[in-house]
Amino acid sequence: MSRLKMVAGNWKMNKTLQEGVALAAQLKEDVKNPSCAVVIGTPFIHLATVAELLKDSPIKVAAENCADKEKGAFTGEVSAEMVRSTGATYCILGHSERRAYYHEDYEILKNKVELALANGLDVIFCIGEVKEERESGKQNEVVQAQLDGSVFHLSAGQWKHITLAYEPVWAIGTGLTATPSQAQDMHAFIRSLVADKYGAEAAEATTILYGGSCNEKNAAELFACPDIDGGLIGGAALVAEKFEAIIAAR
Ligand code: PGA
Repeated sequence: MSRLKMVAGNWKMNKTLQEGVALAAQLKEDVKNPSCAVVIGTPFIHLATVAELLKDSPIKVAAENCADKEKGAFTGEVSAEMVRSTGATYCILGHSERRAYYHEDYEILKNKVELALANGLDVIFCIGEVKEERESGKQNEVVQAQLDGSVFHLSAGQWKHITLAYEPVWAIGTGLTATPSQAQDMHAFIRSLVADKYGAEAAEATTILYGGSCNEKNAAELFACPDIDGGLIGGAALVAEKFEAIIAAR
């Protein structure tokens, strides 16, 4: 079975609305017939404008987060329902920056994932170990616990709307990419966990992205690995030419 290949951008807290719209417009112009799914994750305030701009484009739009509550008195939060109402169709959840700086634990992320799915969003769920965990050989158990804690309770039907992104924290924004063999080993391990949980067919169909200093120079080598289905791109997604080169490498 062939599974969906994808290149997704994660703009993080970068670009004013005007700069974001300009980047999205450039991508719309240049990416008309990609050979893989293309998603851009933008700040909340960009979503409605960028989703409208890209509505006739193959490029899909993602939020980078959503609230862990449905609605109500949660000042400053943005719900999954609100995200969906902008025209965005994806939500990135579990990014290591959310886990580390905003204390998002397994339970909070479980709630976010459920609300995103309940509101018709597909989820790009990020997992990955920090440097000390890799150095002590704990990366597999860390990643397994992250999956067990927040997404492995989902039904088989819900699982179809999950894309995983393996992002070793030590590789994010550091220029220190996992080697293709480190990444491939982890992706194969993750796929084996999905197979144990949801069966071999579901595991074969699960898209698993690599993220962490993936750029226009190393993307092709990473994407050539059998279990690496694409990338979740931070820094290199902020420059149209670089992001487009990564899409072309997929
Ligand atoms: P990076 O970020 O490509 O800048 O390392 C990736 C991410 O955090 O998703």
